[in-house]
Amino acid sequence: MPDVLRIDVVSLFPGVFPGPLAESIPGRALERGLAELRSHDLREWGLGRHRSVDDYTYGGGAGMIMRPEPAAAALDAVRGDDGFVVLPDPGGEVFSQARARDLAARPHLVFLCPRYEGVDDRIRRMVDLELSLGDYVLSGGELAALVVIDAVLRLLPGAIDASSTEEESFTAGLLEYPQYTRPPSFRGERVPEVLVSGDHAAVARWRRDRALERTRRHRPELVGPEPGSGPVSGRTEGGGRPARQSGGASGRTARQGHDRADDSDRWDPGE
Ligand code: ADE
Repeated sequence: MPDVLRIDVVSLFPGVFPGPLAESIPGRALERGLAELRSHDLREWGLGRHRSVDDYTYGGGAGMIMRPEPAAAALDAVRGDDGFVVLPDPGGEVFSQARARDLAARPHLVFLCPRYEGVDDRIRRMVDLELSLGDYVLSGGELAALVVIDAVLRLLPGAIDASSTEEESFTAGLLEYPQYTRPPSFRGERVPEVLVSGDHAAVARWRRDRALERTRRHRPELVGPEPGSGPVSGRTEGGGRPARQSGGASGRTARQGHDRADDSDRWDPGE
């Protein structure tokens, strides 16, 4: 892990940053100097008197797309020797906890946030990774960059209490188990007896069972079928790992092909 993670964001709306990243866990990580976040206005590298950064699509089509020259000039200015450039894009690799860990271990991240209807395809050759939040279309890359940066900042050593991550590690790969605080009874629902029993082994078993149950209900692809629930019991194809979606038809860069996150370790929502 680097001592201080440097994060540069290039956007037409640099005022969006740090936004929510100034609060709570990411805010503290930035305050403690675990990372430095800088945002840059893409228009600084815009063309001509109007600092233009977009143009019509060759071949016809609705909307304007981002021209390559301002993006190239911006990246030349901010990526340095060690910048790993991420392009938020619905056609990219689907963001995962494994990718968050991979990004948190790098010394310098650069986010190039598209607006408009997309980017000139030659921009994809300038980036190391295209990253999608999921199969839906946002108005631009800024919100996606905020989400990715938040997930990365909380992984930096010193950002959150290590004991809370250790405590949750035994349910790695599962959704969170239910938790309760006071009062012991609320609107007729009591805190499960086992949680106040003082029997630590029973509490651990109960938590794991509930986490499994919740995961089977909401994200069955993370765990595979319940034993004995169908004609084929046991492991699914792919070992019950999270399904990775291709996320669309957009081309991946050659560099991306060599730069996949190691997803051999399962998603750990408790990390
Ligand atoms: N830009 C627009 N939609 C996006 C998505 N789903 N993920 C990442 N960046 C995007």
